Amino acid sequence: MAADKFTVQSFRAAKAEKRPISMLTAYDYTTACLLDEAGVDSILVGDSLGMVMLGYENTLRVTMDEMIHHTRAVARGTRKALLIGDMPFLSYHVSVEEAVRNAGRFIQDGGAEAVKLEGGAAVVEKVRAIVKAQIPVLGHLGLTPQSVNVFGGFKVQGKDVAAARNLLDDALLLQDAGAFGIVLECVPDTLAGLIRQRLDIPTIGIGAGPDCDGQVLVIQDLLGLYRRMRPKFVKTYADLGDAAVAAVKNYVQEVAQGQFPAAEHSFHMDARLLEQL
Ligand code: KIV
Repeated sequence: MAADKFTVQSFRAAKAEKRPISMLTAYDYTTACLLDEAGVDSILVGDSLGMVMLGYENTLRVTMDEMIHHTRAVARGTRKALLIGDMPFLSYHVSVEEAVRNAGRFIQDGGAEAVKLEGGAAVVEKVRAIVKAQIPVLGHLGLTPQSVNVFGGFKVQGKDVAAARNLLDDALLLQDAGAFGIVLECVPDTLAGLIRQRLDIPTIGIGAGPDCDGQVLVIQDLLGLYRRMRPKFVKTYADLGDAAVAAVKNYVQEVAQGQFPAAEHSFHMDARLLEQL
């Protein structure tokens, strides 16, 4: 294990030391290597891969096999960051037994060190069983994308007193069931702050304001690579999408004009050998 390996224990320590936790998604080996080299604390193989890698409209069609395939690739490029696999829709909804078996696949087949799943009271029994099987669980509350059809779209959650109280109750239930942290997605910043205060485990925000113990973003959003939608909470740190389109345009033009490849990109042979042919 790398000396400065970030673990589930580091998660807990970070909250105690008030050191903000950084988390990003990754879905492939090359990106995992870059994120790990840059020193991100945790890498999540999110089921958002359904949208940003596979082109689905939402995350509901993502399968266990797709998740394991991508988690394996990310695991090969991750040394220091804590690697978390995201349990897809229906992989933990049917029964406790299936939830434990599928969580186990992330560890055994995928090389993940923890799993994430969405929901509160409805999944707490499954969280408890997965934790009992020695698999660390990260919870996920607020705008849980697997419930997009119930929410009627990607909408901010917890905006009235009843909904906010539900969110807080769910967070406490997940903590009690043994979750080592909770992602809060698209909830008002002050509510996120209150939940953070009430919990001993870290909260990781995405669209939940600065008053969280850590932050997570989808890497395609951070790098400006996913252009179909850009939520308000996203900060684009580099516009690699524009840079990629410009680079490819340049390539297409150089090929058309015979400028690429140049001599320095070609392999050469002694002219005398060529004469013998
Ligand atoms: O699937 C995902 O990428 C996520 C993060 C946005 C938290 O769940």
